[in-house]
Amino acid sequence: MTVIGIDKMSFFSPQQYIDMVELANARGEEPDKYLIGIGQTQQAVIPPTQDVVTMAANAADEMLTASDRKAITMILFATESGIDNSKSGAVYLQRLLGINPYARTIEMKQACYAGTFALMQARDYVTLHPTEKVLVVASDIARYGLHTSGEVTQGGGAVAMLVSADPAIAEINQDNQYLSRDVMDFWRPIYADTARVDGKFSANIYQDFFKAVWTRYKQKSGRSIKDFKALAFHLPFTKMGLKALRDVLPEASEEQQAALMAEFEASRVYSKRIGNLYTGSLYLSLYSLLANSTTLKLGDRVGMFSYGSGAEGEFYSLTLRPHFRGGLVSGQLEELFASRQQVTIPEYEAIFNNQLSGAADRELDTQHDDAKFVLSGLENEQRQYICH
Ligand code: CAA
Repeated sequence: MTVIGIDKMSFFSPQQYIDMVELANARGEEPDKYLIGIGQTQQAVIPPTQDVVTMAANAADEMLTASDRKAITMILFATESGIDNSKSGAVYLQRLLGINPYARTIEMKQACYAGTFALMQARDYVTLHPTEKVLVVASDIARYGLHTSGEVTQGGGAVAMLVSADPAIAEINQDNQYLSRDVMDFWRPIYADTARVDGKFSANIYQDFFKAVWTRYKQKSGRSIKDFKALAFHLPFTKMGLKALRDVLPEASEEQQAALMAEFEASRVYSKRIGNLYTGSLYLSLYSLLANSTTLKLGDRVGMFSYGSGAEGEFYSLTLRPHFRGGLVSGQLEELFASRQQVTIPEYEAIFNNQLSGAADRELDTQHDDAKFVLSGLENEQRQYICH
């Protein structure tokens, strides 16, 4: 039977960041609250010249060959922070990346969950059309606002994944278990550019949904924790994943508990330094796991927990393929961490307040952004994208 799954993965986040000790000092908090209690050490700062479209284009461009661009027949764009109430971010991507015009382009929304739904749609589509490829992007800017309790859990970036037959990275198994319930834990009214959140309630709901879908997964699949070499979680902040992992550790032997903890540490290396990516967070966690684990091997089963406030939770598994590390664009995060610049808290606050908003024409200074795709301004209420 043809295997369908993730063939390539690529990541993009902008070139600036803040340090969480500096943020804690500026907000009058204990640094250990942010470093240990929340589990974040740095946070990506998104300049006005990057939005979800440019970040998605920058991520996808690094992994797509000319033949991939011809073979893609569908672009699925998952985001919570889209730039238009009507037009899909995927249409911009198709043009910016020179993807086959005879492709479908669509945007999907359900808070942080939509990336998982897009991936499952891609899997099911390629199962029916195994010679075609689907580009899935999960791109977001997590904004709660300055001086809010959610501020320490901001961040931003994009993960791009190519779904195909005979994939290099992982088979996406047909074992999904999911749950939805109308809950007001986190939402963003159409007029707002920052999230509204009931923080502690949202963390409790996340854990409840994890326990519910994990229990149902075990019942329906007949599998148990013994069948998993690692679990990857949606990481709004990395302590959240740790809390969920601690819910299942008592089911494992002592030896497996230590192994699962080590894999979890590998899975949160990047998120600790980038912050929340909303739709992309689970997939940055997977990327980090694959890049940093020293023990995973061909055939290992990785459990994936996706959560989107509002609320929807899903658990499914991946089975690793022979070239699971080769499918990642090599050295991407290490290069980013080596080259990105730290900004002070006042500089970050000025950047935070200087995003493109409103209807007036505006030209942005793109000189300091050396990403390939940048947003250069607004003209006649249309975003202007350029390729450096
Ligand atoms: N040393 C070590 N730990 C410390 C500490 C110190 N000096 N001081 C405090 N802590 C610990 C606390 O004990 C607490 O740990 P536990 O959660 O294990 O009890 C942790 O630091 C956080 O402290 P508080 O709960 O007091 O923090 P807070 O009130 O400032 O809020 C938050 C934390 C609710 C996560 C807030 O940052 C927030 O609202 N974030 C946005 C919402 C969010 O991310 N929700 C996650 C689930 S929803 C989701 O997943 C979707 C999504 O992406 C948004």
